Amino acid sequence: MGENIIELNHVRKEFVTAKHYPGFKGAVKGLFTKETVTKTAVDDISFAIREGEMVGYIGSNGAGKSTTIKMMSGILTPTSGTCVVNGLEPYIDRKKNAKNIGVVFGQRTQLWWDLPLGETYTVLKEIYEVSRRDFEERMAFFDDVLNLHEFMHSTVRTLSLGQRMRADLAAALLHNPKVLYLDEPTIGLDVVVKDRIRQAIREINQKYNTTVILTTHDLNDIEELCQRIIIIDAGKKIYDSTLNQLKQDYGNSCSIAFEWKQSPDALQTDMLQQLDGPFTLHRLENGIQICFSKKEYSVAEVIASVMGIAEVKDVQIKETELTDIVKKIYQGSEDRTI
Ligand SMILES: Nc1ncnc2c1ncn2[C@@H]1O[C@H](COP(=O)(O)OP(=O)(O)OP(=O)(O)O)[C@@H](O)[C@H]1O
Ligand SMILES: [Mg+2]
Repeated sequence: MGENIIELNHVRKEFVTAKHYPGFKGAVKGLFTKETVTKTAVDDISFAIREGEMVGYIGSNGAGKSTTIKMMSGILTPTSGTCVVNGLEPYIDRKKNAKNIGVVFGQRTQLWWDLPLGETYTVLKEIYEVSRRDFEERMAFFDDVLNLHEFMHSTVRTLSLGQRMRADLAAALLHNPKVLYLDEPTIGLDVVVKDRIRQAIREINQKYNTTVILTTHDLNDIEELCQRIIIIDAGKKIYDSTLNQLKQDYGNSCSIAFEWKQSPDALQTDMLQQLDGPFTLHRLENGIQICFSKKEYSVAEVIASVMGIAEVKDVQIKETELTDIVKKIYQGSEDRTI
């Protein structure tokens, strides 16, 4: 993996808004007073991202993800701290920076509403001064991974959400930016389109070594695309590590559900109960569920112990899912065993 392409140092963003009072009297009062409220959306965030990395930037609603992305793409200026992307401070060198980055905001399109999609790309080609050869090669590649030809002649306003998102992604990448910011790129998409978008992101990262920062509430996006995850909460960075490390730190618990071939007799029940202690047992309708830490036992050991006692018809293994881990982190629990 290459050099750092993004560096954030103690970045802070405050929004100052006029204070609102309730009711009509309040509205009148608001006209004459200049009281303001300060909201810290991003609070002292630092991180570095290397060229070619795909990083998941996650956090609950209002955590400050979009605000960070807007600073990294030059739309907003930090209140304090610095943000450097490919050697530039985006909000200072907005024009130069625009050539280095591509942005997709899942919530709204960057495309021109009234233009047929094909013409949109021709206009972008001129704006970004993409050579005819590059244009043709890239469009062929995007069509290949995103199936754009189906709606290339349609006006943007008539595209479905999934079509529009595919179109937006190609538009953000036409000038082959070094950095791609994706702010909820799979929001509201069906599973097939989600898959196609993920596949396209993966291929673009591999083909062009594009650095990708992805915010999403769908953790499958992260699981399928990112090696690293940064979690923020109330504007502060609370976790930054590889996905594997996250799973090691938080995801060691495992549960196995056993279904009996026939209900265990008294002796067997007694023996099973003796398993309690190192494991936690829960009675099921026709079986038991055993919860344990993989740090202490392997799945094979647990299965062997139970099968040595009773006859088993079916076994279901459930490892801690990323969703469970993240939920736990959002909730700020100190307990590391889920
Ligand atoms: N232009 C603005 N003026 C005032 N407050 C703002 C502005 N933009 C964002 N905020 C506030 O900053 C906080 C962070 O917002 P942000 O959009 O970055 O969150 P987010 O992590 O992207 O959330 P979501 O998952 O809901 O998209 C929120 O409390 C939001 O209300
Ligand atoms: Mg957001």
